[in-house]
Amino acid sequence: MKSEIRVADDADALADEMAGDLAEAVDAAAASGRRFALALSGGSTPARLYARLGEQPWVGRVRWDAVEFFWGDERCVPPDHTESNYRMTRETLLDHLPIKTEQIHRIRGEDPAEPEARRYEGDIRASVTVGPTELPRFDWILLGMGDDGHTASLFPGQALTAQGELCGVARHPTSGQQRVSFTAELIDAAARVAFLVTGAGKAKLVADIIRRTPGTETLPAAQVAPEYGNVVWYLDRAAAAGLD
Ligand code: 6PG
Repeated sequence: MKSEIRVADDADALADEMAGDLAEAVDAAAASGRRFALALSGGSTPARLYARLGEQPWVGRVRWDAVEFFWGDERCVPPDHTESNYRMTRETLLDHLPIKTEQIHRIRGEDPAEPEARRYEGDIRASVTVGPTELPRFDWILLGMGDDGHTASLFPGQALTAQGELCGVARHPTSGQQRVSFTAELIDAAARVAFLVTGAGKAKLVADIIRRTPGTETLPAAQVAPEYGNVVWYLDRAAAAGLD
């Protein structure tokens, strides 16, 4: 597994850097006649990236017609709920893109979590080609990182329930909110995992995880290790402050 670190001055510059990489990766897939399987993350950090992607130059630059949109996790709430990752993504990005509804594969947060995890696995298997790990291989999985080292809805010390090979059900450790999430195995089957982390508050944890500081190795964000892919940390200067 290769690991790279990209640092930009601020969230807007970081969004442009990531957008440029995404545009090139989608171009490569489209040039070989492949669909680009993109799994998006939730939370607040990616909203700035999504907003940039939804405006010029990126809205016109990226081959959006070649992209299939998925989510790495979703809160078990209706799609118009203020905490819905789908709603945030729709408002900041999807509503601004020239794409078809069929390209959007949302997790149905309004439905019971365990059957939905099974349904979503079926959608992934039907839409994403299998890679060298024998699991569906996303071209990009975009991930955030919580202050506790969680990523997607893989929380420290918590195993997914109703875990299949690709998806399972989690509970947020403080709010108790149910989540449907990718499994660590599905994340590790990706061609690229792109962590997007901004702000000084996460700088120490980012540095500890990248340096593999003892005590952090079991954190879900530290465990991400695609055997046939790479991990790129997209950091603003504040989040990279703990690195040389
Ligand atoms: C979610 C995300 C979660 C998020 C981290 C960071 O559904 O909330 O999948 O893993 O990426 O909690 O969240 P912030 O970007 O809000 O700090």
